[in-house]
Amino acid sequence: MRPFLYINLAALALAADPWINEPDTGLEAYLYSTNYTKSSQPLLKDIRGVPDFDWAAEQSLGLQQYSFYRTAAAGEWSYRNNLDVWSKVKFRVRMLNDVSKVNETLPTTFLGYNFSAPIFIAPAARAGYGDERGELNFVDAAANENILYTAALYASKTIEELGAQKKMHNDTLNGPLATFQQIYTNANLSVTWDAMKRAEAQGAKAFVWTIDAPGTATRHRAARYDTTNANAVTSPLTWDLYDQIRNHTSLPVIPKGISTVEDALLAIEKGAKAIYISNHGGRQLDHSPSPLEIAYEIYRNAPQVFEQVDVMADSGVRYGSDVLKLLALGVKMVGMGRPFMYANCYGLEGVTKLIQIMKTELAADAGQAGVADLKKISRNLINARALDDTVFLMDA
Ligand SMILES: Cc1cc2nc3c(=O)[nH]c(=O)nc-3n(C[C@H](O)[C@H](O)[C@H](O)COP(=O)(O)O)c2cc1C
Ligand SMILES: *[C@@H]1O[C@H](CO)[C@@H](O)[C@H](O)[C@H]1NC(C)=O
Ligand SMILES: *[C@@H]1O[C@H](CO)[C@@H](O)[C@H](O)[C@H]1NC(C)=O
Ligand SMILES: *[C@@H]1O[C@H](CO)[C@@H](O)[C@H](O)[C@H]1NC(C)=O
Ligand SMILES: *[C@@H]1O[C@H](CO)[C@@H](O)[C@H](O)[C@H]1NC(C)=O
Ligand SMILES: *[C@@H]1O[C@H](CO)[C@@H](O)[C@H](O)[C@H]1NC(C)=O
Ligand SMILES: *[C@@H]1O[C@H](CO)[C@@H](O)[C@H](O)[C@H]1NC(C)=O
Repeated sequence: MRPFLYINLAALALAADPWINEPDTGLEAYLYSTNYTKSSQPLLKDIRGVPDFDWAAEQSLGLQQYSFYRTAAAGEWSYRNNLDVWSKVKFRVRMLNDVSKVNETLPTTFLGYNFSAPIFIAPAARAGYGDERGELNFVDAAANENILYTAALYASKTIEELGAQKKMHNDTLNGPLATFQQIYTNANLSVTWDAMKRAEAQGAKAFVWTIDAPGTATRHRAARYDTTNANAVTSPLTWDLYDQIRNHTSLPVIPKGISTVEDALLAIEKGAKAIYISNHGGRQLDHSPSPLEIAYEIYRNAPQVFEQVDVMADSGVRYGSDVLKLLALGVKMVGMGRPFMYANCYGLEGVTKLIQIMKTELAADAGQAGVADLKKISRNLINARALDDTVFLMDA
């Protein structure tokens, strides 16, 4: 038994509402019933669900590298809330709704681009820790599986290396693979303009501007290894800067890290064509809300937001049913960060398997929930009243 299990048993005895650090997927018990060698990477065929990739990555990555991927802010309560909060919202399952073709309704569009499913690879720095091909695996898997990939500015591979890899794929739903480019702004804005120009030259279809890192994040788990933030705080972030960025490109600029209804509305007022709900996987500010809570706040105060702009979201998504709940609130694209970094420890095959697991689960769970067509998903699919106790109301 691994040490963290003892800790959780103690917590179970002491706390009324214990938190199991990671869900027990049965993977360890299964592996130890086979010829599995302790602390080695499990065979990919034994990975069944998204959380399995986390455990597997912990076996194969160095501590410093795993800690960089896994770390979150301060007490990591937001990290845990991101994983835990889904259970507050229940499904309202309608029976006898022929769901036999729901798998054919996975394809979706975002900003006019076609994708095979409403799931995407979120921008995360340093995929090179998991595999020497780094983000090239994300490009290949996104193209083969026809999903959206949003490249991180601080990727292990350069914008040009990723662009060259993209050109190897010209058989996606959009012709050449449609990718977005994440940017952080630099105090020396010519550095930012230069990065944007390079990404445009490589055919990026939109910029994702990260706005939820205006200060330094408190991340103890990674700080132990002197591995803190990939981004340093180098520039004052303002809506005026958003205008300046928009002036420097004809591509859409999607603010990433929207966490209140006010900022969602401001972004629309500023002309954003899409917004990105996120708390950065709980890595920036502890006690920042999960995407489910943010989407619900927007839904309760300004439901028109989901009609006016395309909404993408990430943080804590691990199951098809998580995706389903966000879609029911009006989110169009749901991303994952850590799971893709962990899956990359198996290279392209692992990344591909992760995408396929999510597609399969999303179709299966939609069917189980009585959703015949994901494009016509009803708000009444979910009962979110448990969130009403805490939801912020603008006119209250
Ligand atoms: C290792 C790692 C690096 C990240 N780097 C960036 C980054 O460079 N830019 C950014 O906007 N978000 C970054 N993120 C946040 C992700 O885009 C995403 O919001 C987050 O991982 C979602 O939560 P999840 O990991 O629970 O899926 C990073 C996340 C991780 C785990
Ligand atoms: C365990 O044995 C199976 C065959 O029974 C083999 O395919 C597999 O590679 C072995 N796994 C390890 C980790 O040695
Ligand atoms: C959907 O599922 C049916 C039955 O399982 C299968 O025949 C069909 O090929 C699937 N379609 C897609 C697009 O996956
Ligand atoms: C991709 O295919 C389209 C048409 O199918 C073609 O116009 C375009 O030149 C191709 N691009 C590359 C990079 O091969
Ligand atoms: C998306 O698919 C539709 C319908 O098949 C097609 O008309 C459209 O051109 C596609 N969009 C892009 C950007 O390729
Ligand atoms: C800003 O960045 C540009 C491009 O990298 C560089 O040429 C210039 O010297 C920098 N300016 C300052 C003040 O650091
Ligand atoms: C953006 O460009 C417009 C028109 O070119 C100009 O009026 C405006 O001042 C610019 N805004 C910023 C913030 O640079």
